[in-house]
Amino acid sequence: MEDTTKFNTSKLGTKEYWDEFYALEKKNFENNPEDTGECWFDDNDAEARMIEFLEDNIGIHHIKYDCSICDLGTGNGHLLFELVQNGFNGPMLGVDYSEQSIEFTKKVSQTKRLPVEFSATDIFNESWAPRRFDVVLDKGTLDAVALSGLTKENGKSFVELYPEVLDKLLVKGGVFLITSCNFTESELIKIIQTENLKAWSKIEYPSFSFGGVQGTAICSIAFVKLN
Ligand SMILES: C[S@@+](CC[C@H](N)C(=O)[O-])C[C@H]1O[C@@H](n2cnc3c(N)ncnc32)[C@H](O)[C@@H]1O
Repeated sequence: MEDTTKFNTSKLGTKEYWDEFYALEKKNFENNPEDTGECWFDDNDAEARMIEFLEDNIGIHHIKYDCSICDLGTGNGHLLFELVQNGFNGPMLGVDYSEQSIEFTKKVSQTKRLPVEFSATDIFNESWAPRRFDVVLDKGTLDAVALSGLTKENGKSFVELYPEVLDKLLVKGGVFLITSCNFTESELIKIIQTENLKAWSKIEYPSFSFGGVQGTAICSIAFVKLN
């Protein structure tokens, strides 16, 4: 059977694309401080639904208002800024391999005086040794990684290495919440679930019907780290 977790490559999988994208967003913000950039999956209200999911699950596993949170491929940092606006007040870190993205997020957080840390980091860099977090978030980042088509020297794709990144980042009992438009629910579970990181819950989105098949444009799944 065809492995549908493998995707064609695209410019959205290159660092150059994101550097250019966020350089432009930074410029727009400098010209208009109200313009804090594009929110990925805005049409599906993904950001608000991810925050609502965390709020609805306060007290479960490690989700608390003061829990530590890391946003992988944070882009313009908007998800973390919105979490702060919604009362989350633990240590927060946004990482992105695009230096332009991080310069932009730092500029926005300084202007708005928001207590969020940002770091220009490739999440697949083996020498990256971050602290562990209660909650790790991904909105569209694994999608971009999949479009890079990149592999390590040992032939493993970056998508296949993603669970190792999560294992290094999460505390025991920590939660990983991901939103994707490239992968279906079952594909995400196939990629991410391990002995130690189990699919736990999901966010419901309105579904559509096409050619007799039911589907949703995006999906969000939460995983919990057992040990
Ligand atoms: C589709 S965008 C989503 C951005 C943000 N999460 C949002 O919802 O607006 C994908 C992001 O992943 C980042 N990214 C891709 N590969 C990465 C890697 N290996 N390490 C860190 N960031 C990466 C890109 O720079 C880009 O900001």
